Amino acid sequence: MAEALVDFEQLAKLPTAVHDFVAGGSGAELTLRRNRSALDAITVTPRVLGGVESPDTTTTILGTPAALPVAVAPMAYQRLFHPLGELFLAKAAANAGIPYVISTLSSVPLEKIAAVAPSWFQLYWLRDRKTVRALIDRATASGCRALMITVDVPVMGRRLRDVRNSFALPPEVTAANLVDKYTEAHSGVNGSSAVAAHTASAFDPTFSWRDLAWVRSVTEIPLLVKGILDPRDALAAVDAGADGVVVSNHGGRQFDGAPASIDALGSVIDAVGNDFPVLLDSGIRGGTDVLKALAVGADAVLVGRPLLWALAAGAADEALALLGRELRDAMLLAGCADLAAVADLVTGRS
Ligand code: FNR
Repeated sequence: MAEALVDFEQLAKLPTAVHDFVAGGSGAELTLRRNRSALDAITVTPRVLGGVESPDTTTTILGTPAALPVAVAPMAYQRLFHPLGELFLAKAAANAGIPYVISTLSSVPLEKIAAVAPSWFQLYWLRDRKTVRALIDRATASGCRALMITVDVPVMGRRLRDVRNSFALPPEVTAANLVDKYTEAHSGVNGSSAVAAHTASAFDPTFSWRDLAWVRSVTEIPLLVKGILDPRDALAAVDAGADGVVVSNHGGRQFDGAPASIDALGSVIDAVGNDFPVLLDSGIRGGTDVLKALAVGADAVLVGRPLLWALAAGAADEALALLGRELRDAMLLAGCADLAAVADLVTGRS
């Protein structure tokens, strides 16, 4: 039985290589660990006697109404964890009333996912520009309500666990949105990580601000830039026409040396101002973490790994219900009637 969102890691019975693909970070996993230690170090001073009985957790994120200030982070290849993969987790997001972000590398075609849940689409910048354009058009046509473009993967971080495990996708799990010449070329690659080989051949490291401005020019749906840590980059995203940014270090899977996202959040908000939508991910493990991120200034968070563990345990609905409960409990204990009150709390560092 899960009593907390963090319990699902124990309940997910996965082969070691698949477990490590989820749990791991890049390099020495310093940034991965820093995400947790930095969130643990944040203090939030509770308010008292506000007479709050049922906190209101509802909000609107980039125009999408949400029952919680949470969206499911884009995560690749979810059929590794459950036969229905993305469809199972997306349905749970729909049931919980929060947006589901479809990865470019989803193992179910984006149209099928968008049909079961209010979705956003995450875009990776691929060498084949026609495919990029087609993905944007497909996402828009299938009703995705926002485009989240990931900017922190010029190349994939070196994830040593995957290299050591010679991690490769099983043949039935593929990048369903892409013409699969890359996956085919690298399936069964041994002695390295086949996922890394795929990424190296498909992703375009020359991606630049000019390209981002081009993305802005070809779609009208809200554009979020995911993977911002430096306030100068946040301002460049604003200049390129972004509607929001996600302060993220990719869950410690990219540059192993980056600050914790929660430590980068304040300077990004100072740069773009309080009215510009700023989301945060990397290390969120429960309702108190969501409250901390909002108290520091985020408008919403993305949750990653805990939901893959829950997916693997066949318990995605339970996990999101538990996260909602944890957030409501945290708001009650901190004396907050709604998310505006959370944003008004005083934060510090222990
Ligand atoms: C990811 N992440 C990710 N990000 C993205 O933009 N596109 C993707 O396809 C993926 N795929 C992916 C797979 C797996 C297995 C993981 C764990 C992560 C990163 C993800 O969106 C998010 O930034 C982090 O997972 C957030 O950190 P936590 O919550 O997992 O600590």
